[in-house]
Amino acid sequence: MPNEGKRVLRSQSWFAGRGAQNFANRSWVRSRGVPMDHFDGRPVVGICNTWSELTPCNSHFRDLAQYVREGILEAGGVPMEFPVTSPGEMLTRPTAMLLRNLCSMDVEETLRGNPLDGVVLLMGCDKTTPALLMGAASVNLPTIGLSAGPMFNGSFRGKPFGIKDAWEMAADMRAGRATNADFEEAESCLTRTVGVCNVMGTASTMASMVEVLGVGLPDNASIPAMDARRRVMARMAGRRIVDMVREDLTLDKLLTREAFENAIKVNAAIGGSTNAVIHLTAVARRMEVQLDIEDWHKVGRGVPTLLNLQPSGSYMMQDFHEAGGLPVIIRDLCASGILHGDALTVTGRTLAENNADAICRNPEVIHSVAKPFMADSGVAILRGNLCPDGAVIKPSAAEGRLLKHTGRAVVFENQEDLMRRVDDPDLDIDPDSVMVLKNCGPKGFPGMPELGMLPIPAKLLKQGVTDMVRISDARMSGTSFGAVVLHVSPEAAVGGALAVVRDGDLIELDVAARRLELLISEQELQERLAAWQAPDPVVTRGYVKLYVDTVNQAHEGCDLQFLVGKSGSDAPAAQH
Ligand code: FES
Ligand code: MG
Repeated sequence: MPNEGKRVLRSQSWFAGRGAQNFANRSWVRSRGVPMDHFDGRPVVGICNTWSELTPCNSHFRDLAQYVREGILEAGGVPMEFPVTSPGEMLTRPTAMLLRNLCSMDVEETLRGNPLDGVVLLMGCDKTTPALLMGAASVNLPTIGLSAGPMFNGSFRGKPFGIKDAWEMAADMRAGRATNADFEEAESCLTRTVGVCNVMGTASTMASMVEVLGVGLPDNASIPAMDARRRVMARMAGRRIVDMVREDLTLDKLLTREAFENAIKVNAAIGGSTNAVIHLTAVARRMEVQLDIEDWHKVGRGVPTLLNLQPSGSYMMQDFHEAGGLPVIIRDLCASGILHGDALTVTGRTLAENNADAICRNPEVIHSVAKPFMADSGVAILRGNLCPDGAVIKPSAAEGRLLKHTGRAVVFENQEDLMRRVDDPDLDIDPDSVMVLKNCGPKGFPGMPELGMLPIPAKLLKQGVTDMVRISDARMSGTSFGAVVLHVSPEAAVGGALAVVRDGDLIELDVAARRLELLISEQELQERLAAWQAPDPVVTRGYVKLYVDTVNQAHEGCDLQFLVGKSGSDAPAAQH
């Protein structure tokens, strides 16, 4: 096929040539009504779609994919849309996190095994973003991320209503302060459009990460799902990816160590989800970029929170967009010398160049480095005999008095134990107790569910208690809050110290000193660990067995061990 003077793209090894296989490849694609000139060496671009009715947050991607397709065609490329596994956060049991790595494998193998020169990743609901980034990183084609965008703000009886308000309403129900009618009316007011959760939960955190990592176009995080401007962005992503293929602007040129440092800092500035710690670690390790859990402290320390959004603040994502969106924060952090402004992005320009003209339209929503919303924030990484490989807390989400606290442990062995006893009026617990939940880590649950925000016992809720120290090897929803210590590593199910905590043990949390200690002697701890017995495996077949057998720990990103790293886009020449 003639393509004089241009770089020969990988899709040509499928579509150019006179062999029987080239004939068949072209013939089958032409069955879709594709003209012959689409095989002349122009960029073939995948549209990797996580559309699914089981993932309502992503269910407008059928529509957005059409705009991406138009953009690709306008720029002289060939669109090839394909579906991948879509781990939906709300409906998937036992937790969508269990399917993140499965989805990443789907993405990786589909990209490598097909005639694609570049890809646009359509991702939104929590796990879809890291899954697609992980899979794409291991293949390393030119890649643009297009996020789903948030739902419009929730609105309930004339007041803004976000997911944090919904959690509070659920607590009100348990405490007898809300009626069934209140509850049902609120449901319809919370999610007024498709799109991702409308606060700075995990989905919008990860969409912000896509933007600051340089993988998404400016404004990727905050344009609402149903705003026409997101359609325009989809079209622009389609146009741009074609040029990125021509420029050979592969993902490794964007996902550098500097880009991940930028992401850690922006996560602090937006009051982002603790889940970003796990997901960014996993993406970095796919890209073979050195990123350690300790970097969240070293790099993120001292970066103020600028954004006044739920769950740390009061506003919602639509307000963020109307105030100027993430470009305002990036511009301010670049100007303050906090970010690596020279990091390259999908536009072919630097992060600082992309965002230089951003204007803040509401300083109540987007504060500034000069006048931050919260002086110190981000996530804190704890160490101590209870978490030798680390644990995570989001101090801005906790009541300040609990950030230095010693209390006696009230231990729940697993989720069932918690559900059975937490509201028992005879439970021996008081507001100073430290609630401990075991066996909710990556192997233990399995899949490391978002159970870390243990419910406060009903009898304490009725006394007006709103926060307690809670410790587990689980994660928590990006929309959750409280003095919640998460991601304890190693987890209980592999014999971490968490496994041997007993009722009545004293536990000391000191966030300023970054310590989490079980106050028993080293000898006692070692004796208990020696006597500990691993639980029998509960799953003996299928993907879940593969997951349990090979998943690494939270501080390593919860990836399957054999998926860490990348192997590029080379596919065997032989087919069939
Ligand atoms: Fe899908 Fe929140 S449940 S983004
Ligand atoms: Mg979640």
